[in-house]
Amino acid sequence: MKKILITGISGSLGSAVAKKLLYQNYFIIGVSKSKKNYKKFLSKIQNKYKKNLDYIECNFNNNSSVDMLFKKLSNKHRNINYFINCAGVISRKNFLKEKIQDWEKILKINTLVPMQISQYLLNRPKNKLSDLKFIFLGSQMSRLNHPAASPIYSVSKAAIQPLIRYCTSNYAKHGWTFNNVSPGTIKSRMQKNIKKTKFIKMIKNIPSKKIGKPEDVANLVAFLINEQSNYINGSIINLNGGSYLD
Ligand SMILES: NC(=O)c1ccc[n+]([C@@H]2O[C@H](COP(=O)([O-])OP(=O)(O)OC[C@H]3O[C@@H](n4cnc5c(N)ncnc54)[C@H](OP(=O)(O)O)[C@@H]3O)[C@@H](O)[C@H]2O)c1
Repeated sequence: MKKILITGISGSLGSAVAKKLLYQNYFIIGVSKSKKNYKKFLSKIQNKYKKNLDYIECNFNNNSSVDMLFKKLSNKHRNINYFINCAGVISRKNFLKEKIQDWEKILKINTLVPMQISQYLLNRPKNKLSDLKFIFLGSQMSRLNHPAASPIYSVSKAAIQPLIRYCTSNYAKHGWTFNNVSPGTIKSRMQKNIKKTKFIKMIKNIPSKKIGKPEDVANLVAFLINEQSNYINGSIINLNGGSYLD
């Protein structure tokens, strides 16, 4: 059974992705900041799938917690095939009032720890790695001005793209794939702090006149995990109802 590491498993998008892949018979190792939110996810999973699920609590802003994550992975899960990075945070603070420490926290969660996990997974003996696929949840805001967030969010999402280019250039020869799913606005707890008037205006500006569902993200990720997508590599794939056009 193929093993998938999913960060942000307790989030709106991570939980939809995990649910879909569990039901497709993958083994999932879920990671999130707090077990409390993970338990809510667990309560929505059919009992018969829970045997294919393991969980590691890890705060990406705490170095010893990240060290523990790697220890637990190397003790228990050496044979991970796929990595889906759904962990992420946004800053709704006023840019002019933010401190460098605020930016460091966002970068750690959205960019640096996902890079560390990628490095860890790629550092395993190559002959033991048959099949690797990395999927990062980026954002259309890596290429647009975000109307309702600090620019550090866009910086953190854009900064993962060189990693994807690097991995594709160096490792696609092994048959491994590295892609970036770039959603527009998706129904999620991430939007809970946006003012209603701003939110309605955001929806009006989407050509499809609606926001996406977490299941839209899960469907795309499931396709990218499937071997039918093996020739898609190093790509940024838009999922946005037309709100950003290349
Ligand atoms: N929703 C959208 O409209 C949208 C659009 C574009 C891109 N995205 C991207 O999609 C991804 C998932 O978004 P979402 O809507 O599912 O967000 P969400 O519901 O807020 O979930 C965020 C996830 O990240 C985890 N996380 C937060 N801080 C962490 C930390 N310090 N250490 C480890 N994990 C941490 C959370 O764990 P806890 O539950 O324990 O806090 C949760 O599992 C993010 O990368 C986001 O930037 C979302």
